[in-house]
Amino acid sequence: MARSVLNLLRNRKSIRIFRPSTISEEVLRLIIEAGVRAPTYLQSYTIIQVKDEEKKEELAKLCNEKIVKNASAILLICADLHRTRILLDMLGHEHVLRSDKHPIESILAVFDAGLVVENMIIAAEALGLGSVILDCPLIECKRFSELFELPKGVTPLILLCIGERGEVPPLRPRLPIDQIFHIDKYGEVSEEKLKEYLEELERRMEIENYVRKYAGMDLKYLDYLRLKTELTNESKKVNDEIQKFLKENLIKT
Ligand SMILES: Cc1cc2nc3c(=O)[nH]c(=O)nc-3n(C[C@H](O)[C@H](O)[C@H](O)COP(=O)(O)O)c2cc1C
Repeated sequence: MARSVLNLLRNRKSIRIFRPSTISEEVLRLIIEAGVRAPTYLQSYTIIQVKDEEKKEELAKLCNEKIVKNASAILLICADLHRTRILLDMLGHEHVLRSDKHPIESILAVFDAGLVVENMIIAAEALGLGSVILDCPLIECKRFSELFELPKGVTPLILLCIGERGEVPPLRPRLPIDQIFHIDKYGEVSEEKLKEYLEELERRMEIENYVRKYAGMDLKYLDYLRLKTELTNESKKVNDEIQKFLKENLIKT
């Protein structure tokens, strides 16, 4: 048993090409039940399954169209301080969510959601299904908030798209463990090792044909990474909008 869970964890890859199929409600229920067993703090998250065809059409415009259209289940994961606030109100005390300073609850709500997502990903793997996370809900937080009628205090974070695998991608590169794992004190990064990692990343993504396959662009992977993370007037504008939304709904520091 332990070995099979380790195998799932060690061999999981994001799946971006799904075969048309349906997931039964029972199977989806198993995935959700595995999700809620994650070690969460105040359970400050909400999962919304997107079933409505019109909403899916909207998602196809806001997110990766092919992934959203072919996935058998689409789950929107939100950080949810709205429900937690109501729950704490019931305890009848003056609680932190009534203040405009609650960095702990804000950050841990995102952490809660992340743990739940990972549990669901591994549950899907155990059931023979593939999945991918999409970040469009956070990028388009205002649109998602309107589309799913999210109350104040609820922040859309990611979509988890689940379905039958229509591809067998290779394991994707990771930073070397010795650049991530340290004992007793922080270990400063080795630029030499980071450089080697970037070279390996470029090489392996080229072999996978990653950028052409998934982004339809004729770019080297590192140029694609530059493009995605470049500070531009457009990215500044998007970040300003997201920051405003987060200040109103999540991050109270
Ligand atoms: C918070 C988060 C957001 C992500 N957003 C996207 C996304 O918008 N599109 C996408 O194709 N993959 C997305 N991913 C998946 C990562 O790109 C993927 O996990 C990474 O490339 C490593 O590949 P692997 O999962 O196959 O190991 C996201 C992952 C995380 C954790």
